[in-house]
Amino acid sequence: MNELNDQINQIKNQFFDQLQETRTEAELFQVEKNFLGKKSGPVTQLLKKLSELPPEERPKWGQSVNELKKLLELELAQKRQNLVNTDEPQLWWDYTLDKFAVGRGHWHPISLVLKDMVNFFASMGFEVAQGPEVETEFYNFDALNIPSNHPARDVWDTFYLKTGEVLRTHTSSVQIRTLMQRTPPLRVISPGRCFRYEEVDATHLAVFNQMEGLMIDKNICLSDLKGILHKAIEFIFGNSLKTRFRPAFYPFVEPGLDLDCQCIFCGGSGCSVCKQTGWIELIPCGMVHPNVIRNCGHDPEVYRGFAFGMGFDRIVMLRYGINDMRLLYKGDLNVLSQF
Ligand code: PHE
Repeated sequence: MNELNDQINQIKNQFFDQLQETRTEAELFQVEKNFLGKKSGPVTQLLKKLSELPPEERPKWGQSVNELKKLLELELAQKRQNLVNTDEPQLWWDYTLDKFAVGRGHWHPISLVLKDMVNFFASMGFEVAQGPEVETEFYNFDALNIPSNHPARDVWDTFYLKTGEVLRTHTSSVQIRTLMQRTPPLRVISPGRCFRYEEVDATHLAVFNQMEGLMIDKNICLSDLKGILHKAIEFIFGNSLKTRFRPAFYPFVEPGLDLDCQCIFCGGSGCSVCKQTGWIELIPCGMVHPNVIRNCGHDPEVYRGFAFGMGFDRIVMLRYGINDMRLLYKGDLNVLSQF
């Protein structure tokens, strides 16, 4: 029995040594395993010896070992409580856990192009203007010289709210808001989300990004628009992309134009992305219609300027060679981690 007392004392000493060093739950768990582990813990070993002893020694042996076990359990429970109550935050770090790889976050391709574009236009003296996504018909249509029988107002194209307001179909509404609040000269871009009742496919989304640009002064002419857009395209795509201007109609500009670029997917020979035309419509634009300038309280005889509205998602597609716009919104890490 003396031998038992020696062993018990030795176990106790080792146990208290380890317990004193313990700083975390995980370490505590390890101490518990070291001493009370069912397979090879010293307490279990002592209990196992019971069967080898002469019957008269067994009760005393069993009692002593059980007392030891209870003491260890009590001490462990107390220590666990102390760990919970402590306000030292580092005690909660379990540095015994395996580390696992956490990928570093990065910008979404849309944000990357947006940042570039904002920087580019800022270098040309443009500021960023913002407007609400829920608009009145006035800002989204009327003030932009879009008559009430214009097809864009069709319920199949525009999301109308029960309040009579609309989800803006383009960022041109910000053109109006800015022109009404400010006195020219002004240069603004307004990036933002727009909404249309579209059948979603590889090149159309119901929620998409546009960036309106507006420059108003006394002597702005079409060549200013062309020059700035050429520079913008050069900035985003480098020199390699062929572009062309084509007449187009938008009620709020006169003359209206479309800037097309040669299809990067087929090099201009025709494919499904460019609908076999070899060209992709990139930036609708034009000289702001005198009616719009007048609607915003300025004299069109004095002020004129240009506006453009780039479809942002399309620019992202072309810049990174993505042939399906929906990929930009799926959050698929296989796609996104390539940027
Ligand atoms: N707001 C137009 C659209 O969404 C684009 C545009 C903007 C056209 C500015 C000309 C000038 O279709």
